[in-house]
Amino acid sequence: MNIILMGPPGAGKGTQADRLVSQYGLTQISTGDLFRKALSEQTKYGVIAKYFIQFGHLVPDDYTIAMVRDHLKENTFDNGFILDGFPRTIIQARELESISREFKFKIDAIINLDIPLEKLVSRLSGRRTCQSCGATFHVEFNPPKVEGVCDKCGGELYQRPDESEEAVKVRLDTYNKQTRPLIDYYTMQGTIINVNGDQPMEDVFKDIEKCLEDK
Ligand code: AP5
Ligand code: MG
Ligand code: ZN
Repeated sequence: MNIILMGPPGAGKGTQADRLVSQYGLTQISTGDLFRKALSEQTKYGVIAKYFIQFGHLVPDDYTIAMVRDHLKENTFDNGFILDGFPRTIIQARELESISREFKFKIDAIINLDIPLEKLVSRLSGRRTCQSCGATFHVEFNPPKVEGVCDKCGGELYQRPDESEEAVKVRLDTYNKQTRPLIDYYTMQGTIINVNGDQPMEDVFKDIEKCLEDK
């Protein structure tokens, strides 16, 4: 099963993708994580993406699409994948349709985590991410057992550079202008399923599972 997981910054895409990975053996493809990895390894997509990400803008479509295309070409996904944070523009969605025809896969579900934008600032400012394994925590909603230390691997927890107040403002604005229209695009196709993202993590996951059962 191949899934697109959509939602504004901080909606819980990564959190729910982790659960889908554990429960169903799917592979997560987070474009944000791929860019951050490329950045830490100083590879071409990382160098290009650095400034866009830091200030909360989208990385230009052609680079993002090329990176996803490379990733899909170079990896195998035995049980399917979850696209977390891609597509984020209508151009990316159209390109994904053409990539899927070329690589002969289909998207089985498009899930949109729906949550009022005013709830997102606290989610983003309280998030802590593991430097080593990428696991995410939240100081209030999902605190690690030991402050500053990852439960899963013992790695050090940090705050992402795009969690500054200014960057978060730009990210939310960018979401409204560039990504929200994609909801209408998929709604017109009749393919999107809205899930209430404004409830405890377990309940969001249960709702996602219910949607997937029908697929
Ligand atoms: P990306 O890394 O994808 O960031 P994002 O979309 O802004 O989303 P986040 O990862 O911040 O949030 P999330 O939805 O994964 O939430 P999480 O589960 O962590 O992208 C970063 C940047 O890369 C972009 O700004 C752009 O520059 C670039 N980029 C990426 N993709 C691109 C594309 N396709 N095109 C162009 N550029 C692209 O949860 C957040 C916090 O809330 C956590 O602390 C978590 O513990 C907590 N939490 C989660 N769920 C709940 C819940 N139900 N209740 C309470 N707390 C919760
Ligand atoms: Mg994420
Ligand atoms: Zn870790």
